[in-house]
Amino acid sequence: MSTPHINSKNNDFSDIVLMPGDPVRAKYIAEKYLSKCIQINNTRLMFAYTGFYKNKKISIMSHGIGIPSAALYTHELISTFNVKKIIRIGTCGSIRDDINLRDIVISMGASTDSKINRIKFNNHDFSAISDFEMLYHVFNIAKKMNITVSVGNFFTTDSFYNDDKHMLNILKKYNIIGIDMETAGIYSVAAELHAKALSICTVSDHIIKRESLSSIDRESSFNDMIEIALESTL
Ligand code: HPA
Repeated sequence: MSTPHINSKNNDFSDIVLMPGDPVRAKYIAEKYLSKCIQINNTRLMFAYTGFYKNKKISIMSHGIGIPSAALYTHELISTFNVKKIIRIGTCGSIRDDINLRDIVISMGASTDSKINRIKFNNHDFSAISDFEMLYHVFNIAKKMNITVSVGNFFTTDSFYNDDKHMLNILKKYNIIGIDMETAGIYSVAAELHAKALSICTVSDHIIKRESLSSIDRESSFNDMIEIALESTL
């Protein structure tokens, strides 16, 4: 059965979906890592693929940019296509001196300036948290692969272009390790629909140092994150 934004059949998806923000990256991951891979969605060019990683059925689908986009795709995947686990594999900004470009950060939870979780949670503050077992497992896989990761609190913002220095200082004070635009929304959808989610990001921008990864650097440094996520599904 298809949904307004996903034109796939019931069994097209694995119960585990890896989700980058960018549809081109979804294609890259599917072609590089999956065997017997088929494309299962192209509505709005939000490509989705299903294939096998070392005999494990895995789907890859991009979620686009921002909570509204990520929340609607994760909602449809969980509610209509029986997806049980979502692993966001994205990019984020850093504001900390000790977290630099290419570092991998994992979101234990995510604060936000978006109002959506309050709207859904009767105007109270919802703690948007990752699934503990997925977090624990991914952390141990990274350790086994000798890849350093940092685990902590994210800040999910609605505003990519924001020069509010006061807010940046608050984020620093409260030990935020990554700034993205989706995690708090994905975690609340997973909670609402009783699924599991984890967000892993590679730092692509250092907001204080005003540094960004080039597109070539992006590709090579994202492979570690993708491989951690894929290994964790086995
Ligand atoms: N801010 C918010 N989201 C992001 C950033 C950023 O600097 N980099 C990648 N995603």
